[in-house]
Amino acid sequence: MPEIDSEGKNYHQDIKQKSELFFLKGSNELGWGMKNRLSRIFNPRDGRTIMLAIDHGYFQGPTTGLERIDVNILPLVPYADTVMLTRGILRSTFAPSVTKPIVIRASGGPSILKELSNEEIAMDIEDSIRLNVCAMAIQIFIGGEYESRSVINMTKLVDMGTRYGIPTLAVTAVGKELTRDAKYFRLATRICAELGAHYVKTYYIDEGFETVTAACPVPIVIAGGKKRPELDALKMAYNAIQQGAAGVDMGRNIFQAESPVAMMKAVGAVVHENETPEKAFDLYNTLKSK
Ligand code: R5P
Repeated sequence: MPEIDSEGKNYHQDIKQKSELFFLKGSNELGWGMKNRLSRIFNPRDGRTIMLAIDHGYFQGPTTGLERIDVNILPLVPYADTVMLTRGILRSTFAPSVTKPIVIRASGGPSILKELSNEEIAMDIEDSIRLNVCAMAIQIFIGGEYESRSVINMTKLVDMGTRYGIPTLAVTAVGKELTRDAKYFRLATRICAELGAHYVKTYYIDEGFETVTAACPVPIVIAGGKKRPELDALKMAYNAIQQGAAGVDMGRNIFQAESPVAMMKAVGAVVHENETPEKAFDLYNTLKSK
């Protein structure tokens, strides 16, 4: 029989209980579960994230650098804040003991051989819950052939996720025929946010990126895009962060680098330590030569 507690007296009436605003842009009115998951993706210390994107196989198969995720990618995972991948790779290749927050690719359908904007939601919300994911990602094709379908699919995913406290990441995909400029990305990112996305992934552009981040009421992360020289990739990440991005969701510029682990650490220095690209590149070279 447990002892009966004699009622405590230490109520600290002189200390007001704290009621803090949530640290992420535009996210204060979300529920506890959403905020908790977002806090695992974005570091609450600086509101930023390094997402390691390795979901490319969902439409283009074994991409260069992703041929053997067990061999090439698992060693990088400890240095990322979050990993973005498909449920197939998660179940087949990641041990359940890996506690890194997961952003799951929840859309799919066409391969690179077909019209890419013809995507659908490609997993049930129940599987996202079973996999204990921190967010679900879906592609949006503004200006694409199946624009409306992709936008409505996003809103459906937002509704499903909202029932269970799982955020949605809207990924703005740009067809080859569309101009990648500030006007286009303001349009695409704003549509995603207006229709409920909890954060948005887009591309960095040299002219006017700060207007894209300013006009989007939720956090923006940038994709890395095609592989470029390491210093250029670090400059892009630096500029994006300084112009209001809340992080990177980078794939090829990390896993196709000559030294992916060194590149992860160098990107980490830019995102979380505000390191200049030049200093981060020095770090990259030092780590690479070890
Ligand atoms: C498309 O394949 C995915 O959304 C990728 O996660 C995204 O493009 C980021 O990867 P990368 O930095 O290689 O462009």
